[in-house]
Amino acid sequence: MRKPFICGNWKMYKTNAEAVAFVNEAKSLVAGATDVDVGIGAPATALKSLADAAKGTNIMVGGENCHWEKEGAFTGEIAPGMLVECGCSFVIIGHSERRQYFGETNETCNKKAKAAIANGLTVILCCGETLDEREAGKTTAVVTDHVKNGLAGFTPEEMKKIVIAYEPVWAIGTGKTATPEQAQEVHAVIRTLLADMFGKDIAEATRIQYGGSVKPENVKEIMAQPDVDGALVGGAALKPDSFAKLVNFKA
Ligand code: PGA
Repeated sequence: MRKPFICGNWKMYKTNAEAVAFVNEAKSLVAGATDVDVGIGAPATALKSLADAAKGTNIMVGGENCHWEKEGAFTGEIAPGMLVECGCSFVIIGHSERRQYFGETNETCNKKAKAAIANGLTVILCCGETLDEREAGKTTAVVTDHVKNGLAGFTPEEMKKIVIAYEPVWAIGTGKTATPEQAQEVHAVIRTLLADMFGKDIAEATRIQYGGSVKPENVKEIMAQPDVDGALVGGAALKPDSFAKLVNFKA
C-alpha cells in the first residue's frame, strides 16, 4: 500500500516569521493524519526556523531546489547537505517554474535528484506538459521524457527515495484542475513507464502525486483515483486551515 503524501509548495511566499506562525497554527490541525505523509516545501530562508518549529510534529520540511555539488563556487545555490542540516527531509526537483524560468533541464534534474538522494533526502521529481503540448497530443511524450531522463541511471535502491509529481503546467495556479480522469490517465502512463524502467515492484511502490490547482473542494475526488498517491499544492497550502483540509482529505 502506498502511503498518501500531501505536500505544500510555498514557492516564493512566506518569511521566517510567517512560516513559524503557519506551523504553530497548523500542527494541531494535521496531528490526527497519521496515515498520511505531510510536508511543506518552503523558501530556503525559512527552512531552519520552519524545521525547528515543526520538530515533534508530523510535518516534514523540504527545500524547493538544490544544487548537485557538495560545495563550491556556485553563487546563490544551495547544496543538498545544507538542506539536511536545516532539518529538511525532502526536496522538490524540476518544478515547471524552475524549468521555465531558471533553465532547468532533465539532465540537471537528474544530477540534482541523485545528489539529494545521496544525502538522504527524499526527492519529489516534477513532470508535466504545457497547454500547447497537451493540445498537440504530446502529453505522454513530454511526461515520458521528463521521467525517463530525470531518472536515468537510478538504482532500485535510489527509487525508494523518489516521489513523482505530475503537474500539468496549464493547471498550475490557474484554477483549472485536471479532471480526476485526466490525472489518472497520465499517472497510469507514468506507472507503466516506471515498470518498464525498474520493474513492477518498484512501479507499484512509487508514489505519484498530482499537482495543479488542488483545493479542499477537489482533493477528495483526485485522491480517489487508483494511481494518485498524493498532492503537491501551491496556493491552497498557504493558509493553515486550507492546508489542514487537504491533509485531512479522508475525513
Ligand atoms: P497550485 O500550484 O496548487 O497553486 O496550482 C501547484 C504547484 O505549482 O506545485
